[in-house]
Amino acid sequence: MMLIAALSTVALAFIPLITPSPVIDSNELLVFNPNITYPYSNVIWHRGSTYNVTWETDKIPTEAAENAGVVLLGHSGNNSENLDIAHPLATDFFLRDGSVLVKAPEDIPGRKDYFVVLFGDSGNKSPEFEIC
Ligand SMILES: *[C@@H]1O[C@H](CO)[C@@H](O)[C@H](O)[C@H]1NC(C)=O
Ligand SMILES: *[C@@H]1O[C@H](CO)[C@@H](O)[C@H](O)[C@H]1NC(C)=O
Ligand SMILES: *[C@@H]1O[C@H](CO)[C@@H](O)[C@H](O)[C@H]1NC(C)=O
Repeated sequence: MMLIAALSTVALAFIPLITPSPVIDSNELLVFNPNITYPYSNVIWHRGSTYNVTWETDKIPTEAAENAGVVLLGHSGNNSENLDIAHPLATDFFLRDGSVLVKAPEDIPGRKDYFVVLFGDSGNKSPEFEIC
């Protein structure tokens, strides 16, 4: 029993070293919750234009600073966030960057209940805003 427990402790200890998890790591879900500071509610984006999504970086733990981030567009309705996972607005940036440029898609319907979600943490969803 002792040996098994010791071995599994060793095995668990190595799991985080295998690969830096690209985006969604349950450890970071707990500790890292950066507020999205833009877009905020009442902003209006125009399809095809470029915008600077920003978030707070002052509380990013060292372990998460080098994590790659993903920004997805979603909207409310059908009891779902309707995240457009197939067409991320941005990838390949660091959470520590605090901002990333995104282009509002040209081929989406106008709505007033869009939001963006910054992964690295499932909790940081922007307020709803309009794309027209
Ligand atoms: C996010 O902003 C809200 C409102 O300003 C604040 O209460 C909260 O502490 C902030 N969260 C973090 C993780 O900074
Ligand atoms: C985006 O916003 C951040 C934070 O305000 C700023 O540092 C950065 O220069 C901006 N990027 C562009 C391309 O405007
Ligand atoms: C809800 O689902 C229906 C059927 O899939 C779809 O036509 C409609 O656009 C959805 N509404 C929202 C707000 O996403």
